[in-house]
This record gives sequence, structure tokens and C-alpha cells, in this order.
Amino acid sequence: MKNLLELVEARYSARSYSDRKVEQEKIDYILECARLAPSAVNFQPWKFILVESEEKRTALHAGYAQEWFQQAPLYIVVCGDHSQSWTRKKDSHDHADIDAAIAAEHICLAATEVGLGSCWVCNFRPAIVSEVLGIDGETVYPVAIIPIGYAADAPTLKKRKALDEILTRI
Ligand SMILES: Cc1cc2nc3c(=O)[nH]c(=O)nc-3n(C[C@H](O)[C@H](O)[C@H](O)COP(=O)(O)O)c2cc1C
Repeated sequence: MKNLLELVEARYSARSYSDRKVEQEKIDYILECARLAPSAVNFQPWKFILVESEEKRTALHAGYAQEWFQQAPLYIVVCGDHSQSWTRKKDSHDHADIDAAIAAEHICLAATEVGLGSCWVCNFRPAIVSEVLGIDGETVYPVAIIPIGYAADAPTLKKRKALDEILTRI
């Protein structure tokens, strides 16, 4: 069992997948980790759409036309729901994206823990993705598509800013 730092270090954006089937219990585990994510006021303003069928997978590919993306055997699309999210009254800041992002990273870390590759994908065509998923794209909208599967590539060295560049101590 990896500790959190080891898990965070092990997660990387996998951009090549084998066609090995992903076991149902691993999918269930990942979804449970998403379900338990924290959210503002515990409003849980998200929907998770598991895309596994050949028909919907193929349709989704039109929303992000990268060859590597098409290799993934399944996708979890994390959607935000503005009708359920918390908005801070002082400045009307809607927290749906933040909440969805936390759940999305839970998914990626859980996938890593069970030996699966994953990648955040946000550079998709929102209108196409919403149509494929059957969501309106406005109240309920896609935040991230996460391809999941057995990775066929390997992590490279993490490039990150040094702590002294990003930390202010006051
Ligand atoms: C919000 C967000 C959106 C991203 N969108 C994409 C994307 O559309 N396509 C892609 O290949 N990678 C995408 N990435 C992955 C980043 O490029 C990657 O996390 C970053 O380069 C660090 O590499 P690592 O994940 O391997 O540590 C996204 C990551 C985040 C957090």
C-alpha cells in the first residue's frame, strides 16, 4: 500500500492504453472514491458518467480526436451541476468546478492505487461531449473526461516548480 506522497508521485497522465479489460471491482472502487470526495457545503454538485459501450465510446472520440485517447477501454466523465452547487453570496462565486475537480482527482489517484492509468482531459469539444452524454451542457456540463485503463506507457520525470517559487510564508 502506497502512502499518499507515493501515490501522488506515481500518478501521471497516461497517454497510451492496452486493450486489457478493467475489472468491475476496480471501477467500483474508483467510483466510490469519487463519491466520497468533499464538496462545498456537502452539496455534491456532480454527476459521473461511465462510458463503456462501444457505441458511446466511439461517439465520445469525436469530442477529443487524439489517437491515444481512443485506446482507453473506458472513460469517466465528471460533470458539474450548477443547479446543485454552492454559490458564495459575497461575490457570486459558483463552486461547481472546484467540487468536480476534487472528485476528478480522487478518480485519478484511486486508479493509480489499483494499478490503472488515467489522464485528465479538458481540451475537448464541450458541445459534442454534452450531446453524446445526453446532458444539456449548461446546467449540467462536462468538467473533465478521464480515460482509464491499463497504461501502455511509463511515467516520465515530473516537472514541477520548486516550492520556493510557489510558496509565500508570511
Ligand atoms: C485541468 C486539467 C486539464 C488537462 N487537460 C488535458 C488534456 O486535454 N489533454 C491532455 O493530454 N492532458 C491534459 N491534462 C494533463 C496535464 O497535461 C498534466 O497533468 C500535466 O502536464 C502534468 O503531468 P502529469 O499529469 O503526468 O503529472 C490536464 C490536466 C489538468 C489538471
